[in-house]
Amino acid sequence: MNPPYASHGDSALDVAGRANGPSGGGSIVPAANDYDLLPYPSMPICYTQPAHLAALAVLFGIAPPPVSHARVLELGCASGGNIIPLAARFPDSSFLGIDLSHRHIADGTGRIAGSGLRNIRLQHGDLTALDLAGQTFDYIICHGVFSWVPKAAQDAIFRICQAALTPNGMATISYNVLPGWHLRSAIRDLCLRYAGEKGSPRDRVAQARSALSQIAAASQDDGPYSLLMRTEASRLKDVPASYILGEFLAPDNSPCHVGQFIDRAAEHGLDYLCETDLLAAVPPTLNADLRSRVSSFDTGNRSRAEQDIDFLTGRMFRRSVLVRRTPAAHTACADRLQSLHVSSSLRADPGRTTGQETVFTDPQSRPITVSDPIVTEVLSGLGNAYPNTVSVNALTAPFKAIPGAEGRIRQAIFSLVLAGRTTVSVLPAVAGHWDQDFPVAWPIARAEAASGQPWLTTLLHTAIPALPILRELLPYMDGKHDRAALCVRLADAILRGAVAVTVPSTDEAPHPGSVAAHNLEQTLRHLAYHGILMPA
Ligand SMILES: C[S@@+](CC[C@H](N)C(=O)[O-])C[C@H]1O[C@@H](n2cnc3c(N)ncnc32)[C@H](O)[C@@H]1O
Repeated sequence: MNPPYASHGDSALDVAGRANGPSGGGSIVPAANDYDLLPYPSMPICYTQPAHLAALAVLFGIAPPPVSHARVLELGCASGGNIIPLAARFPDSSFLGIDLSHRHIADGTGRIAGSGLRNIRLQHGDLTALDLAGQTFDYIICHGVFSWVPKAAQDAIFRICQAALTPNGMATISYNVLPGWHLRSAIRDLCLRYAGEKGSPRDRVAQARSALSQIAAASQDDGPYSLLMRTEASRLKDVPASYILGEFLAPDNSPCHVGQFIDRAAEHGLDYLCETDLLAAVPPTLNADLRSRVSSFDTGNRSRAEQDIDFLTGRMFRRSVLVRRTPAAHTACADRLQSLHVSSSLRADPGRTTGQETVFTDPQSRPITVSDPIVTEVLSGLGNAYPNTVSVNALTAPFKAIPGAEGRIRQAIFSLVLAGRTTVSVLPAVAGHWDQDFPVAWPIARAEAASGQPWLTTLLHTAIPALPILRELLPYMDGKHDRAALCVRLADAILRGAVAVTVPSTDEAPHPGSVAAHNLEQTLRHLAYHGILMPA
């Protein structure tokens, strides 16, 4: 993503140590709402999708509220970049977003008006004073808010979830966790000290960023402090300024231990169910005893086991799922996968496959070795279907006659789901194939491309960069332009120098028409892979 950020040359600090700003980094004067001056780039957040949350409920033996007719509330929704695309995909569900920033609400409301959506509303409001007038919601999302607001607002988040969730409703709340975040506290201290108290949010971010990069450049030894400075300076170079504003310059940032979060939720009558990515943060090398304690989801030991993970891994961020208190203990199991839909980008890697064992890798090249030929066949089929989901029923059906095969398949997929290597959903996801005569990009992405927004929302509820070639082509992928017409558009954009293209490998001098055709096909494949195209 391109940061909506322009660097302001001057620094608050020279490396000799002269600085402006408060000396201890403790007290800063908060602006009424800094986000009004520096809006947050509100993007789709994949794990918050109700269809995913509902699948987690199913795995834990809870009957989730129906996703296609759900009421969804987002607390601290910014300009609605997360729930607007969901509202477009689920026209029979209704969505309400609440945010403190007038600017965020105005931006999002304008976008909703332009999209013609009638099932979503964004409302200005302070969570601490929110009156929902008895409305209830099946899914409540609160991402990137909890750790960065005062305790009164944190309590309000729990209170709203408890009061407004329907009986089997689910809430997901993200927050910074200890002990991992102790490391980043050093960065926050530094940012607060050198950002200064005055100046616009953008200026303060620029001062903080500049100070960090100067300190990182001066920290060349191998010690842990230098390493932290260099790692964080490099990480923060390309993130949006408003992320730095929210994460490191907000007057509040109170990371907590997961056990404390679970206890506070319980005080408000909410039970901890799981992480949205289940056990994805648990490294395969984790000590076997802890691994079995964690993966048993034993409710008696749960809080301790989750806390142990954070101590062992240094995890800094959690996305927890809470449910209203119920008498039953919840444990996930593979058999409950049967009614769900899964998708996986794992592909067999022939170069690493030997005899009995097939090595699958994902786009990050992380390997999985499979020795069961039935599981190999199933995973190959699943990978070929990507980005579409396949129902677990459909995956196991061809092997019904083989004793034990269905259970082995379910167990293998369950392990992949727990490890975060396969997505899981209560609804099928179907995107369009690249090879259509009249390719149609889904309306939200088309509008985003036309608006100049630096990312595009996919039908998988992820974001991909809005590359110049996509901005040129998407507005015309409306079902009225066939591939030949798109090719003409692209050739024109190439002539204008508006897009960078690749040239097909050929012995002869490439013809402009064939360059456009080649790049159009690559673009359509890219869009299909990321789930931007509508099915025919
Ligand atoms: C870091 S942004 C996260 C936005 C969005 N959830 C996301 O992840 O893209 C935090 C948001 O919380 C909102 N916020 C902070 N305190 C709030 C409060 N007391 N009531 C309502 N919204 C609040 C801010 O205005 C801002 O839009």
